[in-house]
Amino acid sequence: MARLKVAVLISGRGSNLQALIDAAAAPNYPAEISLVLSNNPEAQGLARAAAAGIPHRAIAHPSREAFAEAADAALREAGIGFVALAGYMRLLDSAFVAAWRDRLVNIHPSLLPAFPGLHAQRQALEAGVRFAGCTVHFVRDAVDTGPIIAQAVVPVLAGDDEAALADRILMAEHRIYPLSVRLYAEGRLAIAGGRVAIAGAVAPGGLLLNPTNSEAAASVGPLASGGG
Ligand code: GRF
Repeated sequence: MARLKVAVLISGRGSNLQALIDAAAAPNYPAEISLVLSNNPEAQGLARAAAAGIPHRAIAHPSREAFAEAADAALREAGIGFVALAGYMRLLDSAFVAAWRDRLVNIHPSLLPAFPGLHAQRQALEAGVRFAGCTVHFVRDAVDTGPIIAQAVVPVLAGDDEAALADRILMAEHRIYPLSVRLYAEGRLAIAGGRVAIAGAVAPGGLLLNPTNSEAAASVGPLASGGG
């Protein structure tokens, strides 16, 4: 069967792009990374595309509309069927979002709908949550909204700074992005009522605790009264 032609839009490092390239190197992966577009000519991800022999282009970003028009033309010329945003740091033109609706996904480093926007990991640390994670979702007009395909959860550990938490989340991103593209390419996703149903999905059972047991909780002693 023909593999789904996927384009990846980037602005920088491209580690998620790399995860997709690596996944697509497996002969049984149902998608190929056929095009990489960047709004930033210096993006490290462009070098990753070059190293993998994937057509790649930096498109100037004089305006959101101009970028969208040029990107749309490049995607159509390459016969792209699906677009993955991977660290693409600009807002997309709403006509572009509409044209690629339900064939356009994004990855975000939080458990959406918590902590949309910039510095999601810092937001999680500041909120004091015990678990953080990442989300792959179909793109809608409002930033970091849209039907959710997959999420992964990582613990927040005592002593985490933004970089440590971001690294832990990134490892999870590199697993759920290739998984999500695979599920789409296999035709297993259906969107209805703003939610994604996944044919044949296996969900984890059980309970996640952080801290993991009562001894850990007891070891910090009783909470001081009057605390906020
Ligand atoms: C990732 O954390 C992604 O979730 C966010 O931007 C970062 C991009 O990293 N949207 P990379 O360029 O894929 O390494």
